[in-house]
Amino acid sequence: MHSYSLTAPAKINLYLEILGDSASNPGYHELVMILQSIELADQIDLRLNGTEEIRLHCDHPQVPQNKSNLAYRAVELMAAQFPDVYARFGGLEISLKKQIPVAAGLAGGSTDAAAVLVGIDLLWQLGLTQPELQELAAKLGSDVPFCLAGGTALATGRGEQLSSLPSLDSMYVVLAKDRNLMISTPWAYQAYRAEFGHSYLKDSASLQSRAERVHSGPMVQAILQKKPAQIGQLLHNDLEKVVLPTTPPVSQLREAFESCGALGTMMSGSGPTVFALANSEAQAQKMEQQVRAMIPDPDVDFWITKFCNHGIQVISSID
Ligand code: C5P
Repeated sequence: MHSYSLTAPAKINLYLEILGDSASNPGYHELVMILQSIELADQIDLRLNGTEEIRLHCDHPQVPQNKSNLAYRAVELMAAQFPDVYARFGGLEISLKKQIPVAAGLAGGSTDAAAVLVGIDLLWQLGLTQPELQELAAKLGSDVPFCLAGGTALATGRGEQLSSLPSLDSMYVVLAKDRNLMISTPWAYQAYRAEFGHSYLKDSASLQSRAERVHSGPMVQAILQKKPAQIGQLLHNDLEKVVLPTTPPVSQLREAFESCGALGTMMSGSGPTVFALANSEAQAQKMEQQVRAMIPDPDVDFWITKFCNHGIQVISSID
């Protein structure tokens, strides 16, 4: 095959707890997260272009079309790992059709990069195993391994160590984001360290036991028992502690969703997207209308989507 189209779902964090500094990855944190794929997805088209060049196109003005794009770095990583195969097949044309909002806490860049890894594995007929792809994904970013596998998973370490959980694909999600807001992920983690660093767990035994407690704790039980109301009640994100006080529009959206009967509402990742859970599409639509009426700001965008049980998938291929 000479060309592949892939779908790359976004994610939300149902749970994000910061445990301490990472001993093995300086500058990073040890986390326990529960990650969930959603149907809101980008489309990534890859094709061999018969030249030596890697060319990236994107229809979104805020997305860089050069090396600062993680999808571009995913191609460079594959070229560096498999130089002979790269020399044989030559360059690539990559086109990103963005649906996932940019710099939003929804892993849009990470999922595009994961799709590039899968697409190149297929184009270059490498036949990489899932663990081999996961190892490459972890070199690109903490969320990339989850984006590759998708579904519902508990993530530990810096987010790259995954343990899958049963899927919950019947739940609906309303996302809301102020178009003018962007939050830098490194800033959010640094601000958290500055304020809460004194209480970080220090030794590896305490880190491990805390991660195990979350694994056997109430949120994972609620997921195993498929109890949407409990999942909504147990949503948690430590990064809210630094983002909410400094970013009033995020708090306002959260409060608005809370007041109109969401099963639960939370900021995703380092924000600024706020999500709210609903039992049905009708409930999600009603919540969106109510929140739009409460916050009549034309710069706030809304999306209604659903949990989904997969990561990167091939949509079509052409010979
Ligand atoms: O891995 P990724 O490039 O997505 O991480 C972006 C930034 O988020 C890191 O440079 C770091 O500042 C912060 N981070 C962290 N601990 C993690 C994941 C990310 O401090 N486990």
